[in-house]
Amino acid sequence: MSIRPILIHPDPRLKKLCAPVESVTADIGKLAEDMLETMYDAPGVGLAAPQVGVLKRVFVMDCIKEEGAAPRPMVLINPEIIATSQEVNTYEEGCLSIPEHYAEVTRPKLATLRWMGLDGKIHEEEFDGLWATCAQHELDHLNGKLFIDHLGTIKRSMITRKMQKLKRDMARG
Ligand code: NI
Repeated sequence: MSIRPILIHPDPRLKKLCAPVESVTADIGKLAEDMLETMYDAPGVGLAAPQVGVLKRVFVMDCIKEEGAAPRPMVLINPEIIATSQEVNTYEEGCLSIPEHYAEVTRPKLATLRWMGLDGKIHEEEFDGLWATCAQHELDHLNGKLFIDHLGTIKRSMITRKMQKLKRDMARG
């Protein structure tokens, strides 16, 4: 396993529609392991393949936050949202590609997803609370959408300008 560098917004690769995975190859297995290691190291609760520059429909998540609780690393390949609730939830979201910026985003409280696992089988599960928000946030990434795209134009451009400055500062070292 290895930690991969995380792309920082703005980056054209974070705006792309990602391609479906045709079959679970050894490369996909390695990608998923690396993504989990990268996510836990960051640390974060979710990470999508385009964030490490791979434009494929894969994301990982683990929203277990309680101290001492067993981790639940999940790998979702070709995920689809098949149902959402009318009831919504508002969470302060962040993103490993937009470090140190957080904003409230409202999304359906419940989301049922269908995906292919690393076992090549189709799985289905209804997620609630933080898990549902995380799954919807990560699925957005696979469609080239970031959480700031859910915000108003002024707030979004303000964050983008700050990120451009951060990237310039990082490049200067
Ligand atoms: Ni994100």
